[in-house]
Amino acid sequence: MRMTVIGTGYLGAVHAACMADIGHEVLGVDIDGEKIRALAEGRPPFFEPGLDEVLTRATASGRLRFSTSLSEAAAFADVHFVCVGTPQQAGSDAADLRCVDAVVDGLAAHLTGAHLLVGKSTVPVGTTPRLAARLRGIVPAGCEVEVAWNPEFLREGFAVEDTLRPDRIVVGVTSPRADRVLREVYAPMLADRVPYVSTDPATAELVKVSANSFLATKISFINAMAEVCDAAGADVVTLADALGHDTRIGRRFLHAGLGFGGGCLPKDIRAFSARARELGVGEAVGFLGQVDAVNQRQRRRTVDIARDLAGGEFTGRRIAVLGATFKPNSDDIRDSPALAVAAAIHREGAEVRVHDPEGLHNARLAHPELRYENEPSGACAGADVVLHLTEWSDYRELDPVKLARVVRTPRLIDARNHLDMGLWRASGWTVRALGRPSPALLPGPARAGLALSRPSAAGRQRPPTARC
Ligand code: UDX
Repeated sequence: MRMTVIGTGYLGAVHAACMADIGHEVLGVDIDGEKIRALAEGRPPFFEPGLDEVLTRATASGRLRFSTSLSEAAAFADVHFVCVGTPQQAGSDAADLRCVDAVVDGLAAHLTGAHLLVGKSTVPVGTTPRLAARLRGIVPAGCEVEVAWNPEFLREGFAVEDTLRPDRIVVGVTSPRADRVLREVYAPMLADRVPYVSTDPATAELVKVSANSFLATKISFINAMAEVCDAAGADVVTLADALGHDTRIGRRFLHAGLGFGGGCLPKDIRAFSARARELGVGEAVGFLGQVDAVNQRQRRRTVDIARDLAGGEFTGRRIAVLGATFKPNSDDIRDSPALAVAAAIHREGAEVRVHDPEGLHNARLAHPELRYENEPSGACAGADVVLHLTEWSDYRELDPVKLARVVRTPRLIDARNHLDMGLWRASGWTVRALGRPSPALLPGPARAGLALSRPSAAGRQRPPTARC
């Protein structure tokens, strides 16, 4: 099939490359000429594991091309995927749909004949009919455009895998024809028995925001438990392990720590709340305000613990930050909890030195006031406190004995509950975490019990293919 993919960011670039990889002829379109040039040369404009291979394969096959022209898109195919960003509006919780509207308007001006426009971006419920009406007002007489919604559930870091082997495909359509077209697009996945849910556009739009709301709620739930654990001297990691054995609950997305960030979860729960208020059902999703508040609190709690470890104030202190991206295996720093903490500590007067395996370029652009280091040891040199804020596997490989020699004082906060606390403590570090008891704060018998009953570090380690 021929298709265009409009918007070649984290979502669109992967979708375009993967659609070509499964045999379609694809034109990727973006207004950013530099990005388009990079993609056309088979170079991903951002870090995403596995994307370079798929992109190289797809461009070499001749099935994937790129352009900045919407008129070329209109002439190239009659199926168009819209993958542009829907960020949070400045000064409001609602989603900013200007990019979606601009693509629709720009494309509509060049359309003739029959077309199917398939939205993949995350949008407020009700967007599909709104865009269909907008198109009817622009396209020339005799041109028919149907709008469908096909939400994307890919996780950054696993985007290629999630696109080629999704958990499910959800489409919101208004005609059997649109359903047939989308079944053809995803034929290889359907042959692999990937569940295919064909429904109305409103339900499809809602599946995406409710899925992200559920995931955000799960994370904030365990982070709320972490706060209770801190007050009660309990261990949230063991608590989550025990909860996770209940298959109705499951262990995924129960990793307590600094909380969620990124270009999706935070803005999606806010936009969903804003849309629900518009629909008069704000109270039904009122809990999402709490989910957001719990999440923001983890950032403040981390700053508070760091200040405490630094001796009560940050002025004149040097703080090392390990991790800048919102999660590992990505260079995405949008709404990154790690950078939010680093910037807050810098504002309080500390010298903050940040390391990240892939995110330094983006972090430097967003926070030029921080200092950046290419090696973890550079960030840690002379540090009064080391903060582990994004759980890159590289940081598990660090040697705490060697690192203790470069810092000024061996004090660590593991805000992702991902390092082997026992190993770091045995190497002379004072270690604090969110929701885990500090031996120094525990009564003697509890301390002894902990040492005896805790599972091995390997037992607590997340499997490399874990969903988060
Ligand atoms: C998310 C959804 O998973 C995906 O389905 C949707 O399409 C887009 O939004 P992504 O933003 O790539 O994907 O990140 P995800 O892996 O979901 O993690 C989101 C944030 O939650 C990260 O900051 C991560 O560190 C944090 N997180 C995740 C936790 O704090 N604890 C967890 O247990 C899981």
